[in-house]
This record gives sequence, C-alpha cells and structure tokens, in this order.
Amino acid sequence: MAVIALTSASGSPGVTTTALGWALSRGRPTVLVDADPTGGSAMLAGYLRGQMVPPDALLELWTAHRQGRLRAALPSLAMPLPGSQVGLLPGTRSHGQARILAGLFEPLLAALKALEGTGQDVIVDVGRLGLAGSPSALLHGADLALVVCRADLVSLSALRSWLATMHTELAEVGAASSSLGVVLVGPGRPYSQGEVGKVLAGVCGGRSPVLASVAWDPKTAAVFSAGAQVRRLEGSRLVRSLRTLDVAARDAVAGTAADLTGAGVQA
Ligand SMILES: Nc1ncnc2c1ncn2[C@@H]1O[C@H](COP(=O)(O)OP(=O)(O)OP(=O)(O)O)[C@@H](O)[C@H]1O
Ligand SMILES: [Mg+2]
Repeated sequence: MAVIALTSASGSPGVTTTALGWALSRGRPTVLVDADPTGGSAMLAGYLRGQMVPPDALLELWTAHRQGRLRAALPSLAMPLPGSQVGLLPGTRSHGQARILAGLFEPLLAALKALEGTGQDVIVDVGRLGLAGSPSALLHGADLALVVCRADLVSLSALRSWLATMHTELAEVGAASSSLGVVLVGPGRPYSQGEVGKVLAGVCGGRSPVLASVAWDPKTAAVFSAGAQVRRLEGSRLVRSLRTLDVAARDAVAGTAADLTGAGVQA
C-alpha cells in the first residue's frame, strides 16, 4: 500500500486516533511514524500510557542520516507494539526537538518508501497543517495524503481553505490530484459524507475528495487516544470503519499509481 500521511486543518479531529487504530487493526506489517511536530509523543503517553521507554527515534535517525546509515538504522528504531504487527517510530519529546529535524524528512521519506519492497506499509501522523517544524516532505511525497476532518461547519470551513492550498502544493511537486483525500470522522454529525463531498469538490477539481468515513465511537477511540480498556475492540464500529478505510486507501493508492503511469506515458 505504501506511504500514507494523515494530517488535519484545525481542531483535534482524530488524526492520532485514526492513524494508530488503523495501523493496529490492519493485521499487516505496518510502520507507524509519529511525526507530529507538537512533540510530547502522544501515542506513547496516550495509547501506551507512558509504560514503555521509547528510543528518541527521529533524533537517532537524524544522526544516522548524517552518518550515511539512515536505511540501516530504521528497522532497529521501530518499537514493536505488543500484540500487533506494528512498529512505531515514536515522536519527539518536545516541539523544540522537532524543529531541528527539518532536513530529516526528505531522506526519511525515501527510506520509508523503500520499505514497500519488504512488504511493510507506512502510516504517518503528520500533526496539524502549518505548524513550525511540520514534516511537509512526508506529506507532499506520500502516496496518499489524507486530511482528517469532523463533519461540522467549523471543521469544514477550515478544511476548505487548507485543501485548496494542498491541492496547489501537490500539483507543484507533480503529485497526482487523486493522492489528496479527506477522511471524515463522525459522518452525520451533522453532515453526511455525500454532503461534505459536494461542498469540497469545488476546491478539488470537481471530484469529491472524501475517501472514507470513520465511525463516531468515543469509547473505542479512547483506547487509541488514551489507553482506555474496552471489552470488545475487534467488532467495534470504529475498528470496522478503519478496515473499510484500509480497503479504500489501498484502492486509491493503486488508482493514483495508474494515474501517474498514464501521465508518464502521455508525457
Ligand atoms: N472516531 C472517533 N469517535 C469518537 N471520538 C474520537 C474519534 N476519533 C478521535 N476521537 C477523540 O477525539 C479526541 C482527539 O483525538 P486525537 O488526539 O486523535 O486528535 P488529533 O487530531 O490527533 O489531535 P491533535 O491535533 O491535538 O494531535 C480524543 O479524545 C479521541 O478519543
Ligand atoms: Mg494528534
């Protein structure tokens, strides 16, 4: 499936919850990268409740890059998440650390893309758009850049302007327009996926950018965002919708690759 980057335009719509829940529910080898420049390692503090001692993965990768051994260092820095096929590259402890990593993200993207050959897919939590230290190279170079959004007017209004910017930025780097998508958290609260798609089509060349919706399910979401315990994770609405998202993303990546190949043939 390759490299998928998740971000948001405003608020806290559920980027981290979606990224982590998606990686854990896929049942496939996945590298999960916490590249949110906000710092504080939300996944470690939330899902893992601060119970694992992480490596300073991104800082160590930066050092490894400067020593010409980024690809060799990558596998050993991914922390296996218990009971899963997910290896987590934890985020920085502070926003100050994130700012010194600006030069890391382009070579890291290349190293992450190379993982596809080993059968591993990559999901990246990029954090909110427009932050200082934002890992733009990961977003612009991902096979799929997904903006996570809630279905209310405040979220959609911020998303509209950011989506137009991203559409332009991705065109500038030669990415297929189909590599940009939206993941709607809580469809029907109050707007449906169809209604949101119609509103956003205007800034995405007439096509609805909404790839899939993630169910509104606060109890299960709290497992991924805060390490809460639930009796039934597998059959939950959230996990089922994340599996649907996985299928939609795989189809979209295949479609985007076909678009780019077609463009290459015509060029
Ligand atoms: N599908 C969902 N259903 C219900 N609640 C959700 C869902 N996804 C996330 N949440 C809740 O929304 C809150 C914010 O989630 P999360 O931390 O994942 O957002 P974020 O976009 O990563 O925020 P930030 O920009 O601050 O990193 C959490 O309380 C989480 O449990
Ligand atoms: Mg987050």
